Order: sequence, then structure tokens, then C-alpha cells
Amino acid sequence: MQLDLFAAVLDEYLHAGNLPNEALYGSLCARGAVRPGAFQQRVPIGASGEQHSLAKRRVRWIQQTMRAMGLIERIPEQRGVWRATAKAKAELTPAQPKVVILGFHTELGIGIWGNAADVISRIDQPVSLFLTSPPYPLRQPRAYGNPGLSEYVDFITATLEPIMRTIAPGGVVALNVTNDIFVEGSPERSTYREELVLAIKRRCGLALMDTLIWHNPSKPPGPIQWASKQRMQLGVAYEQVLYFTNDPHQCKADNRRVLQPHSEAQRRLIERGGEKRHAINADGAYRLRPGSYGNATAGSIQRNVLNISHNCPSQRALRSRTDALGLPRHGAVMPLKLARLLVEFFCPPGELVVDPFAGSFTTARAAEDSGRRWICGDKHLEYVLLGKHRMESAPS
Ligand SMILES: C[S@@+](CC[C@H](N)C(=O)[O-])C[C@H]1O[C@@H](n2cnc3c(N)ncnc32)[C@H](O)[C@@H]1O
Repeated sequence: MQLDLFAAVLDEYLHAGNLPNEALYGSLCARGAVRPGAFQQRVPIGASGEQHSLAKRRVRWIQQTMRAMGLIERIPEQRGVWRATAKAKAELTPAQPKVVILGFHTELGIGIWGNAADVISRIDQPVSLFLTSPPYPLRQPRAYGNPGLSEYVDFITATLEPIMRTIAPGGVVALNVTNDIFVEGSPERSTYREELVLAIKRRCGLALMDTLIWHNPSKPPGPIQWASKQRMQLGVAYEQVLYFTNDPHQCKADNRRVLQPHSEAQRRLIERGGEKRHAINADGAYRLRPGSYGNATAGSIQRNVLNISHNCPSQRALRSRTDALGLPRHGAVMPLKLARLLVEFFCPPGELVVDPFAGSFTTARAAEDSGRRWICGDKHLEYVLLGKHRMESAPS
């Protein structure tokens, strides 16, 4: 089943209230989901050769599937009139196990409705970058559901293990993980990240290249209990991006793809031809000689602390688009600027990026905008629909 038509039908019900079939057919043609005239066209079907519209059959089949999933219901006593259920409006719709459905596609990629393990098991080409923010092991789960702390390491490594089959030599696995997990009832931070790193090394054979710090200056205050109330912790301001590879010497990451503009002071130093003095600093760790730092370079190397606010234009545009579409807001969107920097640093242009926990499809947007191919999937239909609309709109 293609999700395009499924999504269009659900979209119509979500926006229309009570919707008679004839009105639905008209809207589907008007929005280009079905070819004009297709509902009138009849062809002989089955042994009897009776004439039927294939387009109506397809829509009927989708209606029955949606009914079985509890997304639409018949209006009593009105033939051929359906409406979206409260569940369709209020809840997230999880994919059925082992079923992956093509949600949408672009020039460079495909968006899939399916569980991460099912999406990964179907990838049959070399992947240069797995970039993802898996659901965090939060004590108070988000709307999209989160594994508990005790099962978290197993959940992530079991998801990653099949990736080893498709990862290209030197390919990168980058995981955005939270810093905000504490031992229950205690200001002691959980060591789940350290356990995760060791498990990924042992079970998946991946080498840790670095732990990037994503400093988010607009992160909400926290941890409330241990920083704001008990004052034993400082306010949290960062998350981590752990990045691994299967071959450190061939790693595909390349900082020349994400050079930063020189600072004014650096620019002036280069113009002056570099240092003029001899100096030995830090007990010999740093030596200066005339001409040091005088070479003109294309830019300065990005530091491994990434200073990016999550309150960015892309997030704001996404929120208003989500509201306008009547879809649930996503509660954990990565700033597009961060995703773009990571995609460009880790993955050469034209190669394949995969995000199996795609959420609002930020990785997909970053890959598309920077000329990488991509396969991204999410377990929840509503986020795949959101991703579809996000990919259809202009980059922001
Ligand atoms: C932290 S969010 C990802 C956010 C994303 N990076 C963005 O910028 O929007 C994690 C996502 O994983 C999805 N998810 C949870 N369990 C999943 C599973 N087993 N398979 C696929 N997706 C899953 C959730 O629906 C959620 O959207």
C-alpha cells in the first residue's frame, strides 16, 4: 500500500467532519491524489466480468483498513458517510509490526511508516550515515512512547545490530542522546550513556570517534528537582551526539565540509602573515614561531561543541505548519541547523543517510537540502504525514 492515498484520505477526514463518499472522491481528485475521471472509469473485474471503478475499490479498501485501525467511523443511518474518530485526532497511530509502508518520496529520498527494525532490515544498499535521535529513556514518556531505562541499552543495540549488514566501510553511526537521566529519586546521573557506548562497541563492533556536545542555549531550565530546588546540580544546557564508525581510519567524516568563517582576529592574523614572535607556551605544549597561523585557509575547523539553539526558524515554521494541518506537534524536534551540520560533516554528497526514528523528518530535510540521498522512517503515521508536508514545503 502507498501511503500517499492513505494520507490524503485521512487528511480529508481530519479536515471535513462528516464526509460523504462522493465529496471525498471529489476532494481526492481536486488535490491531485487521484486522476480526474478515475472514479467514473469502470473496468470488468472477476469471473463475472462485472464493471467496477478501481479507484473506488482502492479508497474502499483504505476506508476498511482505517476502520480496522479505529481511525474513522461510519455516521449511523447515513450510507457512505464517514468521519475521523477522536482517536485519529488525538492519538498517534503506530505502524503494524513487520509492515512498512511507503509514505512519500522526493528527488533524493523516501519517507516510510514503519518500525525502526523493520525499516532497517529492508535496506539493501550501502549506508554512509545513520543519524538519529532515538526515543530517550525518559521516566515520563513522551506521547510517542519511550523504552524504560532498564531496557534502553538492549533496545538501541538490537536496533543497531542489523545496520552492520549495510553500513559502508568508514560509515558513521551518530546518536543524539540526552544528558537528563537520573537514578530514580537521586541527583546521581545515570551512566546509561557509558553503558550504551560499551555495548555498541562490544555488540556492534563500532568504534567511538567522539562525543560532540550540542550546547542548546534555549534549553528549558532543569533538572528542576536537583538544580532549581535542591541546588546540587548546575542547569543542564547540553545533549550529546555520540558518533561511531566501523573503520576509524577510513571514517567518512570530513571537517573540510563544515569549515566555519574565520573570526575577525584570525583574519587579521592571516593578513599580517601570522605570528611575529617566538614563544613556548603551556610547558612546551604549544610553540609559536614567526609565520605561525599565517597560512590563508578556507575557514576554521568547527569545534566539537556545537552552539545551536533549538528555537530556530525551521522549528517555528514546523510548529505553525503542524497546527494548520491539525496534526499533533512533535515534542522533540532537532534544530535543522544542527542536523544539516551533522549530515554535511559525516556524509559525503550524494551518499545515503538513514534515520529510522525520523520524528518530524529533520534528518531527511537536512539530507535533501544538502544533496544527500536518504531513507527515513517513523513508527507513527502522524509524524510521517508531518514529514511529507515538511518535505513538500520550501526549506526553512
Ligand atoms: C526523539 S524523536 C526523533 C526526533 C527527530 N530527530 C526530529 O527532529 O523530529 C524519536 C522518534 O522515534 C519514533 N519511534 C519510537 N519508537 C520507534 C520505533 N520502534 N521505530 C520507529 N520509530 C520509533 C517516535 O515516534 C519519535 O518520533
